[in-house]
Amino acid sequence: MKKILLTFTIVTFYCVNLFAIPDEGMWLPMLVKRLNAEDMAKHGCKLTAEEIYNINQAALKDAIVSLEFCTAEIVSENGLLFTNHHCAYSAIQENSSVEHNYLDDGFWAKSFNEELKIPGQTASILVRMEDVTAQVLKGIDDNTSAADRSKMIGDATKEISKKAAEDGKYKAVVKDMFNGNEFYLFVYETFKDVRLVGAPPQSIGKFGGDTDNWMWPRHTGDFSLLRIYANKDNKPAEYAADNVPYKPKHVIPVSLKGYKEGDFAMIMGFPGRTNRYITSPGMELQMQYINPVQIKLFGKRLETWKKNMDADTKVRIQYSAKHASMANSWKYYIGQNEGLERLDVISQRKKEEAAFTAWAKSSEGNAKYADILSEYATAVDGYKDMVSQLLYLNLAGKSCEAAQLIRIASRVKDEAAKKPADAKALAEATADAKSAADEFFKDYDTQTDLSVVKEMILMYIADIPAAKLPPAIAKIAAGKGKSNEEKVSKWADKLFEKSIFTSKEKFEKWLAKPDAKSFEKDPVFVLNNELTQFNTAQIAPAQQKFMAQTDRLKRIYLEGLMKFRKDKTFYPDANSTERLTYGNIKSYAPADAVNFNYYTTTDGILQKAKKDKTSEFYVPEKLIELIKKKDFGRYAENGELKVAFLTNNDITGGNSGSPVMNDKGELIGIAFDGNWEAMTGDLVFDPQLKRTICVDIRYVLFIMDKLAGATNLVNEMKLTN
Ligand code: ARG
Repeated sequence: MKKILLTFTIVTFYCVNLFAIPDEGMWLPMLVKRLNAEDMAKHGCKLTAEEIYNINQAALKDAIVSLEFCTAEIVSENGLLFTNHHCAYSAIQENSSVEHNYLDDGFWAKSFNEELKIPGQTASILVRMEDVTAQVLKGIDDNTSAADRSKMIGDATKEISKKAAEDGKYKAVVKDMFNGNEFYLFVYETFKDVRLVGAPPQSIGKFGGDTDNWMWPRHTGDFSLLRIYANKDNKPAEYAADNVPYKPKHVIPVSLKGYKEGDFAMIMGFPGRTNRYITSPGMELQMQYINPVQIKLFGKRLETWKKNMDADTKVRIQYSAKHASMANSWKYYIGQNEGLERLDVISQRKKEEAAFTAWAKSSEGNAKYADILSEYATAVDGYKDMVSQLLYLNLAGKSCEAAQLIRIASRVKDEAAKKPADAKALAEATADAKSAADEFFKDYDTQTDLSVVKEMILMYIADIPAAKLPPAIAKIAAGKGKSNEEKVSKWADKLFEKSIFTSKEKFEKWLAKPDAKSFEKDPVFVLNNELTQFNTAQIAPAQQKFMAQTDRLKRIYLEGLMKFRKDKTFYPDANSTERLTYGNIKSYAPADAVNFNYYTTTDGILQKAKKDKTSEFYVPEKLIELIKKKDFGRYAENGELKVAFLTNNDITGGNSGSPVMNDKGELIGIAFDGNWEAMTGDLVFDPQLKRTICVDIRYVLFIMDKLAGATNLVNEMKLTN
């Protein structure tokens, strides 16, 4: 009896401390009315739930745009979008050359017809969402086998989304929520003509670079402008010169009023992935087996790219976007591991799990959940030694960028082998391959790729025990040469010399007279193939088993957790669907005796400024002058200009570019980062430490107006005071 009492004391204790957390949560817009409206009002929100999400009339959701990997918001009647500079970075980079260096110089369209095409970029706006759990799980229960379950879910979701797509009018997807316990349908209107409208020079848009990335205090003008184009009927259409700016249902007004600590703040957007219900063995797998390998291999690749980029402006432009994106992930994994250790996250989670299992075993609980966590630990145990093999195979073994041509050219190869030949199909495949290859080679440098391959294969040989190496890699280590460096270097030089994929000239020569035989004998193709076969035989089965086991365990664990914590309002993990998070403008204390203010000003830009043009902290002359003269115009507040600010909103990657709005749904900033002290935020929300870093919309307008003279764009917006 005493023991049980004790158990329940522990249970209650954890309920209060670990579950009842304000401001945490990425809420589904459709459910805001039921779950959040009251609490939002308490936080200071003046909007009704209907003004946020409504399928019968215009609402805030109609101005929230998914760019697939980022978020954007509509700020003019002509479909003008704000997003982050780092979200438009590839678009800016792709449109840049040594002659038109928009990365370094910025880009501002003075009229619609100067706006630049962004190949492949889409913009999706949510039309509606619907809970389809009952339909998807019809006929499925605890006795359904894993294979049947996955087939039945697959069939049902296919049918539901096909119907909702209305013959291609919409993009419709069914997404699982709560680890497969619930299912929701999302119907989007997806626009295919999105253009680049404006971007500051990267000395503003990426100010502070990778040094300041993931950090506060911040002084980055991380914004860019895009525009959605539609056909004459205001409907999605492929890029066409005579498409017209999209007329939106809702435009977010831009507020010049600012904010103070404690003010209501909310964000809507498309967070990519969180794993808030992760188990402690899952965390250990991430921390001890996955992150260290990614940190090491990403770090080496970044270092190698950087060397080549520093030596040649052309290479610097070619590899800027690839480098920024990998540097971002690399620093993320470092921060996550540091945080897991510093905040003692895993032992916290173990305590929660002990309480859960004690509940499951008690008379109040449910025996179905009693062994879930120990089964999870066993599954991780059986898999963890495979992880580095898998990561090295993909990140080191398959590090050759030129191998992307295999996929690009494979249809040509197949057509070339056909007897009798189908001349028309071959010509079509060739034209497609030619344009994809042009795009690829535009941002490809042979020497850079070669040096990456050398470094990666060297690490593969050094770090994976010889007996576990794929034969294709073991062969290199067994080759001629005094050292591994020499062996790898000789092998790689030959690989690059012999392959038809490692230069534009060689590839185009093949494409002019394609034959399947030389393609299939190509050393890059052969290497890739051997690695794929090794993976299929040696690694993939263990990985698939692990995934199947843990998918099931995660689902049942969360089902149990929701019963265990009946009084808590659960929200589903981020999965690139639209969410709303609300809270307040809020400072934080990152360490003992240190208090961070909740905003930064242009003073900090001057304090961080470096004269060296290649520095991450270089500031354009003109900006320095404007700041020194305090020429801030209507964007100033008490004579100073705020640059960035903090909220306690709950966001993650994918939310980048999201609108930060005040109590009236007006734009006060653009979300662009998370903070270093809360890098474990995707696994656990720490209310003391987790903050969203936003660029102040008045700094954005100041840059557009005073620095770039882009008054045409400022004038499109609805400014409020
Ligand atoms: N940390 C930001 C995010 O994940 C991206 C910042 C990009 N900037 C950079 N210096 N790489 O959304």
